[in-house]
Amino acid sequence: MPYRLNLDTDDFLQRYWQRTPVVIRQALPGFADPLSPDELAGLALEENVASRVILRKDDQWQAQPGPPEDYAALGEQDWQLLVQAVNHHHGPAQALCDAFRFLPDWRFDDLMASFAVPGGGVGPHIDNYDVFILQGEGRRRWQVGQRGEHRPRPGSEGLALVADFDPIIDVELAPGDLLYIPPGYPHCGQTLTPSLSYSLGYRAPSQQELLSALADHLLDTGDGQRRFTSQQEPAEPARVSLAHQQGMAQLLTTLFDQGEAWQQALGLTLSQNRFELDLWPSDEPLTPTELSQCHQQGHSLVRLGGLKVLQLEGLAPEQLFLDGQRWVLPQGLGATATLLARQRRLSAEQWAPLVAACPEALCHWLNQGYWQLET
Ligand code: SIN
Ligand code: CO
Repeated sequence: MPYRLNLDTDDFLQRYWQRTPVVIRQALPGFADPLSPDELAGLALEENVASRVILRKDDQWQAQPGPPEDYAALGEQDWQLLVQAVNHHHGPAQALCDAFRFLPDWRFDDLMASFAVPGGGVGPHIDNYDVFILQGEGRRRWQVGQRGEHRPRPGSEGLALVADFDPIIDVELAPGDLLYIPPGYPHCGQTLTPSLSYSLGYRAPSQQELLSALADHLLDTGDGQRRFTSQQEPAEPARVSLAHQQGMAQLLTTLFDQGEAWQQALGLTLSQNRFELDLWPSDEPLTPTELSQCHQQGHSLVRLGGLKVLQLEGLAPEQLFLDGQRWVLPQGLGATATLLARQRRLSAEQWAPLVAACPEALCHWLNQGYWQLET
């Protein structure tokens, strides 16, 4: 069953997004957890799943990488299990993320699911990304402080915790309640009853990441070979003039103004995931003939959890970026490419143009495990 947000998203975007933390009571009324604590613990045991346990002792916190070997040994208080990118591995968790698609896919990082026992939490900290914290079963108290200078917490090396702060928000969350926190606001969760909670993280690229993505792309394609030229040289031989400094900066900005290389670098980098995708395995590679048979039988085309399929405004809609790759579908397939980017599931009727015009590309995606066919 799809999850539906009970939220005026326009109002949220205008008043709170990237600005102010806010509590949204019953953002998902009657919320049913996409997974149980046992399922989460099981998932954490899988090899390609990133998890950690945070133990609390008085007002200090300590991290243990990976899932605990023995949950019973942790006791009934003061610990929290955190599992990253649960949406990559678990269909219903991805369905929960889909309820938040009023924000662009490129911003979405992952869904981290946590199970915590009373007293458990990760300690007061600041994230450099936007996060929605959704309460599942159980109850947790959340405190959020003001943006600004916050001293590092002594003795919390490795966890980057901050000192205690004065809360501007101090609430108890119940199942279905949502807390939104923009980057830079210190926050701290404290578990009151055994609890599942979900953090949906949204990360935007830094200048460093953008420049390095562009540099990688230029090196791959051999573009960006233009050199600096000037008509005037400075009188002082050992000095790089301001005009030359500005001219070289302008040489760089032409890369952004003139289009395609920059757009492609963006498409490649923004379609990548920070956490590994859990590619669907295919036993025998599917052939175009078998693909056509599946199509005739009416199979749906279903996208892997976590996979981003992006189009860039200003580029032909046939250009798709997925998992750091660029694909150009045959001309005339723009509308189908848009469906592939927009929808997680395409009906046989919707993916028909792919069978006719580019069966090899589709077979490749299916054989890689980016999509699968479902009856
Ligand atoms: C938590 O669930 O305590 C950690 C989530 C967060 O602070 O982003
Ligand atoms: Co946080």
